[in-house]
Amino acid sequence: MRPDHSGSLAGAAAFSTDEREAVYKAISTRRDVRSQFLPDAVDDDVVRRLLEAAHHAPSVGFMQPWNFIVVRNAEIRQSVWEAFSRANAEAAEMFSGTRQQAYRSLKLEGIRTAPLGICVTSDPDRCGDVVLGRTHNPKMDSYSTVCAVQNLWLAARAEGIGVGWVSIFHEADLKRILGVPDRVEIVAWLCVGYVDQLYQEPELAVKGWRQRVPLEELVFADHWGKPGGDIVSSAAAEGPGSRGS
Ligand SMILES: Cc1cc2nc3c(=O)[nH]c(=O)nc-3n(C[C@H](O)[C@H](O)[C@H](O)COP(=O)(O)O)c2cc1C
Repeated sequence: MRPDHSGSLAGAAAFSTDEREAVYKAISTRRDVRSQFLPDAVDDDVVRRLLEAAHHAPSVGFMQPWNFIVVRNAEIRQSVWEAFSRANAEAAEMFSGTRQQAYRSLKLEGIRTAPLGICVTSDPDRCGDVVLGRTHNPKMDSYSTVCAVQNLWLAARAEGIGVGWVSIFHEADLKRILGVPDRVEIVAWLCVGYVDQLYQEPELAVKGWRQRVPLEELVFADHWGKPGGDIVSSAAAEGPGSRGS
C-alpha cells in the first residue's frame, strides 16, 4: 500500500482580485535596473526575505543547486566592475558602425552604485551524480538557479528594490575575485538597491536597441510553426491576469 500523504495538502483556491493584481503588477513593472539605485542600505532582514524568495524556487529533483554570495564590500565590487569593463570593451568590438556606437552609449551595469551585489551560483554536484529529472539534460540545474533569480527579482520589486542582472564577464574573472570553485557555475551577478523610479518599459526598448516582440508571434498551436496567435489575442484584450469565468 502506498503511504497516504493527503494530510500534507492545503487549499489552493485562486487569489483574491487584489492579490492577483499584485502578483501581475510585480511581473509587469519589474525592470532590469542599471542607473536608478539609491544609496540607502538594504538591511539584512530585507536581504533575507529576498533570498528566502529565491530559495523557494522550483529546482530539478528539488536539487536546490544555488548559493548566494552577498557582496557589500566596495573593493570587491570595484574588482567586479573592472572585470565587467574589460569584458564590455570586448563586447563592444563585436558590433560595428552605428550599432557599436549605440552599444557604447548603453549603460549595462550598476555594480558600484548599487549598495549590494549578489552573485548567484549553481553547484552541479549538490546531489551527487544522478539527479531526479536531470539525467537527460544536465542544463536543468542551471535552469533551476535561473528560477531562483527570477523569484528574487519579483520579490525585490514588491519591496521597492531594483535588481540589475550583469552577465558581461569572463566567468573565470568572477570566480577568481569571489573564490568560487571551478566546478561551480556562476549564473548571475545581481546589482541590488532601493529605487524610487523605474522605466515603464525595458530600458533597451526605451533607448531604441530592441522592442518587445508581440506575444501573438511567439505562440504556436499544437506544432512548431503553426500560428497560435489567436490563443492569446482575445485574452490580451482583457489584460494580464484575466481568467475566463
Ligand atoms: C540572463 C540575463 C542576462 C542579462 N545581462 C544583462 C547585462 O549584462 N547587462 C544589462 O544591462 N542587462 C542585462 N540583462 C537585462 C536585460 O537586458 C533585460 O532583462 C531586458 O532588456 C528586458 O528588460 P526588463 O528586464 O527591464 O524587462 C540580462 C537579463 C537576463 C535575463
